[in-house]
Amino acid sequence: MGVADVIVVLMLIISSLSKSASGCYESIISFGDSLADTGNLLLLSPSDKLPRSARLPYGETFFHHPTGRYSDGPDSLGLPLVQPYLGGDGRSFSKGVNFAVAGATALDYEYLEKRGIHNPLTNVSLGTQLDWFKQILAKHSDLQLSILYYQELIKLGAETMVVPGNFPIGCLPVYLTQYMTSNGKDYNSKTGCLNWLNKISEYYNELLRKELSRIRELHPNVTIIYADSYNVALRFYLYPNEFGFSKGILRACCGTGGIYNYNASAECGIVPSTSCDDPSSLASWDGMHFTEAAYRVIAQGLLEGPYTTPQFRTVCPSISRHPGFSSI
Ligand SMILES: *[C@@H]1O[C@H](CO)[C@@H](O)[C@H](O)[C@H]1NC(C)=O
Ligand SMILES: *[C@@H]1O[C@H](CO)[C@@H](O)[C@H](O)[C@H]1NC(C)=O
Ligand SMILES: *[C@@H]1O[C@H](CO)[C@@H](O)[C@H](O)[C@H]1NC(C)=O
Repeated sequence: MGVADVIVVLMLIISSLSKSASGCYESIISFGDSLADTGNLLLLSPSDKLPRSARLPYGETFFHHPTGRYSDGPDSLGLPLVQPYLGGDGRSFSKGVNFAVAGATALDYEYLEKRGIHNPLTNVSLGTQLDWFKQILAKHSDLQLSILYYQELIKLGAETMVVPGNFPIGCLPVYLTQYMTSNGKDYNSKTGCLNWLNKISEYYNELLRKELSRIRELHPNVTIIYADSYNVALRFYLYPNEFGFSKGILRACCGTGGIYNYNASAECGIVPSTSCDDPSSLASWDGMHFTEAAYRVIAQGLLEGPYTTPQFRTVCPSISRHPGFSSI
C-alpha cells in the first residue's frame, strides 16, 4: 500500500494548451490523478461504490455540494479546469477537456499488477487517458492539438505543454502519519516535514527537468513549461502565517484526529471524520490534497511567476472560470 500511495502522488499531471491569435491560451487538455480530477472517478464508479469525493465535506466551500473534486473548492494547480471527459456531451470540448482520474498512475495498471503493486482506486492510467484523447481527436476536428507523452512521444498536432513537478510530499499529513518516527533528525527543523520524502520529490523533479530539456531540444517548436510545484508549495510550509495558514500548517482540515488529523482507517468523507470550521486557515484539505486556499496560493505562484520555466502566458478570459459556475 505504501508503494502504491507514493505512486499516486508521483503521478504526472500534464496539461496541453493551444494559443489564440491574441497569444492567450484558449483550450486546455488535462491528464492526471486526483489533483486534477473534476469528476471522472465519480462518473466511472458504480453507485454502490462511490469514491469519498462523492460526499460532503468535499466541495463544501465553493460548490456547496460534492462534485468529485478532491478538495473543498475548485482551484487545482493553477489551471482552470474544464469539464470531465466522462461527463461531457462531446459538444463543448472546444475549450478543452479534463481526462484526469483520481488514483490514476503514470504506468499501466497491468504493468504494476505484474510487479505486485495493486491500485485499489482505479485501473485508469496515463495510457488510458491518452487513448480517450485519441478517440476524441478522431471525432472532433476542432481540437487541433498536440501532446507529448512523457518518455514516449505522441504527436497529435499542437503547441504548449505544462508539466508540473512533484509537491514536497514529506509535508503531507498522510505520509507524516504513515512514516512517523521518534528520530527528530528525520524532520526539517523549520517546516517539520520529513526530509527523506522531500528528497524523493526533489530527485524526481531533477530527473523530470533533465528529461524535459531533452524533449525541448528534440522538439523546438513545442513550448514545454516546467511548473515548480515543489518550491511554490514550500513557501507556505516555511512561512505559513504569511499565507493565512494559521491553524497548523501540517494538519489536515478534514480527518479523524491524530497529530496531523489524518487516520488512514477513517479518512475524510468517512464516519466519524469531521471537517474544520475554516478550511482557508489550513493548507491540507484531507491529508493528501490541498484546500482551495492553498491551491490559490499555488495557482498565483505558477500563473504570475516566478515558478514556471519558461513563464506561463495568460489563459483567455473565455476559459478562465469553470464552465457553468462563473455566475456564482
Ligand atoms: C478497467 O476496468 C473496467 C471495468 O471493470 C474494464 O471494462 C476495463 O477494460 C478495464 N481497463 C483496463 C485498462 O484494464
Ligand atoms: C517549426 O516551425 C518552423 C517555423 O514555423 C517550421 O518551418 C518548421 O517546419 C517547424 N518544425 C517542425 C519540426 O515542425
Ligand atoms: C483511527 O480510526 C480508527 C477508526 O475510527 C480507530 O479505531 C483508531 O483508533 C484510530 N487510530 C488512531 C491512531 O487514532
